[in-house]
Amino acid sequence: ADVPVPGGNVEAAWAALREEAMGCTRCDLHRCATQTVFGEGPLNPRIFFVGEQPGDQEDLAGRPFVGPAGQLFDAALEKAGIDRSTTYVTNAVKHFKFVLRGKKRIHSKPDTAEIDACRWWQEQERALIRPPLTVALGATAARSLTGKTVTISKVRDAPLTLADGSECWVTVHPSFLLRIPEEQRRREERARFVEDLMRIRDRA
Ligand code: URA
Repeated sequence: ADVPVPGGNVEAAWAALREEAMGCTRCDLHRCATQTVFGEGPLNPRIFFVGEQPGDQEDLAGRPFVGPAGQLFDAALEKAGIDRSTTYVTNAVKHFKFVLRGKKRIHSKPDTAEIDACRWWQEQERALIRPPLTVALGATAARSLTGKTVTISKVRDAPLTLADGSECWVTVHPSFLLRIPEEQRRREERARFVEDLMRIRDRA
């Protein structure tokens, strides 16, 4: 699918792209995952969010950010005054990568080859949607969007400019906020995430 389609129908092109992604074999992750989890949301979003990869629940539901990280993300969006239904949410990697521990499927971080193989889909989504404002949730998303390895703390306070000239903010991944063991720090980091989202909201 070569997008954009001048004068064409963005909805139809997006639906075709999604359909094509359902059969993706660009890397080996499709072998164990249940299904491709494609992006979702309006095709004229205020903000285009990119996460890392589907988790266990997303893999089963076929939708991004519906599990525990998604619940934290939803709560933070609400606190920041962002209506998720006005945003497009997708992942850098569209198949769940995991290791089996007994019957449990434990999330495993995608490597750079997998991120770079899957980047094609994210680029096609952005080429169709042409979002004015993109947000990378975590380092995997930032790599997918910029093609480079970035350190979140170094780029968090000012937007990057993507290849198409649009603005991209980098912040932490909601799963990181779930994993912080110490309560005081967890509270501070969650508040900082909401502050990031508020600043992004004011740019959108
Ligand atoms: N984490 C992600 O990055 N994406 C999801 O869809 C769920 C959890």
